[in-house]
Amino acid sequence: MEPLVLGIETSCDETGVGLVRGTTLLADAVASSVAEHARFGGVVPEVASRAHLEAMLPTVDRALSEAGVRLADVDGIAVTAGPGLAGALLVGVAAAKAYAMALDKPLYGVNHLAAHVAVDQLEHGPLPQPCLALLVSGGHSSLLLVPDVTADVQPLGATIDDAAGEAFDKVARVLGLPFPGGPHIDRVARDGDPAAIDFPRGLTGPRDAVYDFSFSGLKTAVARWVEAREQAGETVPVATVAAAFQEAVVDVLTRKAVAACRDHGVLDLVIGGGVAANSRLRAVAEQRCAAAGIRLRVPRPKLCTDNGAMVAALGAELIARDRPASALDLPTDPSLPITEVLVGAPGLS
Ligand code: KG4
Ligand code: ZN
Repeated sequence: MEPLVLGIETSCDETGVGLVRGTTLLADAVASSVAEHARFGGVVPEVASRAHLEAMLPTVDRALSEAGVRLADVDGIAVTAGPGLAGALLVGVAAAKAYAMALDKPLYGVNHLAAHVAVDQLEHGPLPQPCLALLVSGGHSSLLLVPDVTADVQPLGATIDDAAGEAFDKVARVLGLPFPGGPHIDRVARDGDPAAIDFPRGLTGPRDAVYDFSFSGLKTAVARWVEAREQAGETVPVATVAAAFQEAVVDVLTRKAVAACRDHGVLDLVIGGGVAANSRLRAVAEQRCAAAGIRLRVPRPKLCTDNGAMVAALGAELIARDRPASALDLPTDPSLPITEVLVGAPGLS
């Protein structure tokens, strides 16, 4: 039987614990502290760390009972070592070290972004090599070329200011919608005309970095547009603004992802991160990929947002490929570069 891997994720506001055997998902338990951050309009790091501490053991127990296995059955432990919130990462890594020590099993400190890509294996089978990945969430917006998710992940571009999800959350706030705003914008935008307002598409000029993103100008343009209506005493057409804003984000994300595939001769695109749950992004990506002859893989929404299954999925792949385990003094790294898929293993620089 393939090894059973426990995956632990605590880089932001989700305490995720997953159990994976090979590419089979056995359990995906998540405890989110998002409600505790709602009144601040964003994730408060100290609040997130405390919530991880409280949720860690109950979430591990929940995952074990969901999978119908015992802790003693676990063959390896994978944990997010970065990037993410410093204090939050420490909670997960400390827990993973304790499990690895107590069970005397190998520990793998992994990159959160690579895990977002690897998770697709649980839904669509082995990742094509190479594939291209578009990761869009509240914390990151990246385009990655992935020849090998366990050892070779190359950054092509990233946001130079706000992450895509952050832009959704900030615009939602301007429109008076609750935090996190992405799902609310997605919902209200269904009743709006996306072509009614032509919001700016960041970094799409002839001299701009082709694979980088910028959403802060768009966010400001939306805020100004809304402000002008309010000052004129007009009602703000929330559905229209939401639809036009969403269209601007989706247009840029899909255009750049398809261009990156074409430029690198890659025929498979994986989309992950919380924003991958966006219905318009999924629809436009499907259309544009079909037109360009690219196969699109988008995991179901629960696997797109932060979770432990993605970490276990990457851990299982590292074990399957005989990669060395991390040392027990494995460090966390809040700004871990994507080029480091595995952290703290002997022989790695
Ligand atoms: O991956 P995730 O759960 O956490 C990280 O930020 O790492 O992503 C959360 C982000 C939030 O900004 C949220 O507003 C956005 O994903 N989001 C969406 C949708 N669902 C979640 N954005 C647009 N449309 C959605 N349906
Ligand atoms: Zn994430």
